Amino acid sequence: MPSAYWDESLASLYRQFQYAFSERSLEGRVIILAGATGGLGAATVSLLAREGARLILGYRSNRDRAENLRAAIRRQFQSDIILVAGDLAATETRQSYLDALARLAAPLAGAAILSGAPARASLAEISGESLAHSFESNFSGPVLLARDLGEQMEKSSGGSIVFLATMQAVAAFPSSLNYAAPKAALVHAARILAQEWLRVRVNVVAPGATVAGMAESSVSSGKYDRFIETGAISRFGHPEDVARAVRFFLEPDNYITGQTLLVDGGLTLRRDRAAK
Ligand SMILES: NC(=O)c1ccc[n+]([C@@H]2O[C@H](COP(=O)([O-])OP(=O)(O)OC[C@H]3O[C@@H](n4cnc5c(N)ncnc54)[C@H](OP(=O)(O)O)[C@@H]3O)[C@@H](O)[C@H]2O)c1
Repeated sequence: MPSAYWDESLASLYRQFQYAFSERSLEGRVIILAGATGGLGAATVSLLAREGARLILGYRSNRDRAENLRAAIRRQFQSDIILVAGDLAATETRQSYLDALARLAAPLAGAAILSGAPARASLAEISGESLAHSFESNFSGPVLLARDLGEQMEKSSGGSIVFLATMQAVAAFPSSLNYAAPKAALVHAARILAQEWLRVRVNVVAPGATVAGMAESSVSSGKYDRFIETGAISRFGHPEDVARAVRFFLEPDNYITGQTLLVDGGLTLRRDRAAK
């Protein structure tokens, strides 16, 4: 008795070494990029616009930067982007994403939720307030938006959600508790959401020390030079490295869910501390 799910015509193609790799798989598809006007998001916007995706782009309050990015994308790729403003923790903001989507009258194919706050604080500086603020920015807002968008995709044609965490959510770094603990919770939330949905994949990209966005000032100040000088990494991360990882998970025929991909050049391997 053959499997009810066996596709003999596909098997026949494979026996002839014929495989289907779509080249421009995001062309024409609607993708929401929340918190994507910053250093890592802008590179992701650029990569997806270049490919012809239809983008809804969210930011919190820096309208000038969002408008500049929209104008650059129009100039470079003749592509129009819809902008959504507001804090993701607010119900009205999350509704604005759904309203923008409804105006496009096309199914949502995927969403990358990049919003986050550096929430730097030493152990002594951490307070209930600082933790609550970090949880709101780095966990609650992204998770609630993912819930709203994921439910919609699960009911229609399925799709993909990508969260942005950090290498600090995967490995322990000094003074990172205030920032990294909510991001680690985000990593776990991704697994639970991935289990919840059958047609919506949920994954996480966890960047390392990258030269753009919220790490730019630390990298440019020389704070992380020791990672290169001691052989922990060969170079700092570029926004394009992260954008490519986000795009990988957004591909419609991607088969991966519930996973976290570190884009850290191997920093968390701590080659600098490994015995030779
Ligand atoms: N850059 C790095 O090296 C690095 C390393 C590890 C992890 N990450 C993570 O990667 C993600 C993107 O980082 P980035 O460097 O691109 O950050 P960024 O340059 O600071 O940009 C942050 C983006 O998120 C928006 N945003 C922030 N808080 C928000 C909120 N509460 N509601 C809605 N939007 C909000 C910002 O909008 P406004 O500009 O209007 O405020 C902006 O579009 C973050 O989650 C970050 O934690 C970054």
